[in-house]
Amino acid sequence: MTIEHVHPTDQAAAGTPETARTAEPTLPTEGDLRTLVGLVDYDTSRDPFPVIGWDALVWVVGNATQTAHFLESAYGMRREAYSGPETGNRDHKAFVLRSGDARFVIIGAVDPDSPLIAHHDRHGDGIVDVALEVPDVDRCVAWARAQGATVLVEPHDDTDEFGTVRSAALAAYGDTRHTLVDRSRYEGPYLPGFVARQSAFRASTHAEGSPIRAIDHVVGNVELGRMDEWVEFYRRVMGFTNMAEFVGDDIATEYSALMSKVVANGNHRVKFPLNEPAAGKKRSQIDEYLEFYRGPGVQHIALATDDILGCVDALRREGVEFLDTPDAYYDDPELRARIGQVRVPVEQLRRRGILVDRDEDGYLLQIFTRPLGDRPTVFFELIERHGSLGFGKGNFKALFQAIEREQQARGNL
Ligand SMILES: [Fe+2]
Repeated sequence: MTIEHVHPTDQAAAGTPETARTAEPTLPTEGDLRTLVGLVDYDTSRDPFPVIGWDALVWVVGNATQTAHFLESAYGMRREAYSGPETGNRDHKAFVLRSGDARFVIIGAVDPDSPLIAHHDRHGDGIVDVALEVPDVDRCVAWARAQGATVLVEPHDDTDEFGTVRSAALAAYGDTRHTLVDRSRYEGPYLPGFVARQSAFRASTHAEGSPIRAIDHVVGNVELGRMDEWVEFYRRVMGFTNMAEFVGDDIATEYSALMSKVVANGNHRVKFPLNEPAAGKKRSQIDEYLEFYRGPGVQHIALATDDILGCVDALRREGVEFLDTPDAYYDDPELRARIGQVRVPVEQLRRRGILVDRDEDGYLLQIFTRPLGDRPTVFFELIERHGSLGFGKGNFKALFQAIEREQQARGNL
């Protein structure tokens, strides 16, 4: 531990070229994104609701100051912008963090009368806004309204010395929203009202940058019987299409169950798996989420990496806890036969608890963290894709078993 923390400092003192790379997170290229998240070519000219990709995931938490630090120290995210009392925003603090192409905005109330207090009181730490970048906010909102969507914020401009951002917001499941952002005429660090703000802090583990390159998918949990309604919402309102992977009765296990379908935007940059609980012998993990989040919301965020082994090692070193995977998972001859050859020996995966799934297009490696906050709600997935465009359907049962052991320990099974 000591050596690991001293070594990068020595490098910095020597001014080696490696330290130069620590200045800014590197944005993945379009080619990188094809491999990392399955980006595809797409002609938007006939799409009434074209989406470029993720703009930001906006979190409301109980202590933004500390959550921001946690994401910097444990996940190697970099602070880019800030809004708070010192910048004239007396209601809350907001920290903008980035790792590769993934941008998180972490918000916590300062004013004891802030409306954020009620949101946090109800939901705990969670995602309030899955913001999407679009080329034409007005066109998207006009289409969405015609399709019956609830427009929470009408299209409007925000301007400062860096230019103008046009945005609007649509209601999604529960208290979640989609802000639609056109930042093509804006050069500032995030949005008007924010100032560029780096942090002097550098997690030594992540001195050469975080291994997290992009957001791969964001999963929503909705109430029993409402999954198809939300799949239809994304199809009708936002022009998303179903991806092949879905989980139905065939995955409903004797332990607990969920139903899941996946929708994606035209270029597959934005993928939304949607879960609902299904009848199981015991209480499902989705039911637990819905109870503790007090309704539908974002269940997990999958972060794409091209080095999941290094990523898991680095995050563990900084105290991130992952779900355990039973040894039986790696010993199962049926599973071994199905996954075939992957880029590292299975023993390397077993040591870290990394799961493997394979389909006709290739394979993927994935692992899930424990819930980030105190409530058993939102968590992260790390995913390394090798051709597979799936979501780890083959691992659902193995994952259920691991999650349920933890539910049992919390007395919620
Ligand atoms: Fe996932």
